[in-house]
Amino acid sequence: MNIAVLCSGNGTNLQAIIDAVKAGKIPARIALVAGDRKDAFAFERARTAGIETLFVDPREHAWRENFDKVLVRALHATNADLVVLAGFMRLLSPYFIGEFRGRIMNIHPALLPAFKGTHGIRDALAYGVKVTGVTVHFVDEELDHGPVILQQAVAVRDDDTEAALLERLHAEEHKLYPEAIRLFVEGKLKVQGRRVLGSDPKK
Ligand code: GRF
Repeated sequence: MNIAVLCSGNGTNLQAIIDAVKAGKIPARIALVAGDRKDAFAFERARTAGIETLFVDPREHAWRENFDKVLVRALHATNADLVVLAGFMRLLSPYFIGEFRGRIMNIHPALLPAFKGTHGIRDALAYGVKVTGVTVHFVDEELDHGPVILQQAVAVRDDDTEAALLERLHAEEHKLYPEAIRLFVEGKLKVQGRRVLGSDPKK
């Protein structure tokens, strides 16, 4: 199976996935790392691991669908079976989602459906929840909305700052995302409406 990872930033989740593939925990290959920011450190990580990279410049594609068309063409050219969003800061068009329906995953730093959007950690802290966490889910046309694959709770502490909480959430993300990808690659996941079956621990 070929995995493509889309990133916009640091790429710590990408690194966790690269490491899991290298360690033989995910029986697949990362065929492409693509992104919308030329200087994203994620590209550096990909190059170090010998993975093909693709930068698509959003300034050259004012229409979201044009940008997505370039990306979709590249993903088909690399025979991507699974598209993994790892800190990719663009909303995908319905066209993109239609091309890879049921084969796009995202990770969100909150327990969805709580605290959707780009400030999941800050919003959870501001709300005062005692428990937040991490969600891996399939992507559909709505933001942070598709069927949930795996979730991991993380307790909020009295002295938490956004940075401290982010660090503990990231540590969980780096375990959860490779695990969700493994389950998908091994054909364990079955989607029934909003429910994803087959992700019970130790399956
Ligand atoms: C993660 O916190 C993820 O939950 C969110 O974007 C962040 C990406 O971090 N979707 P990184 O680039 O993988 O370090």
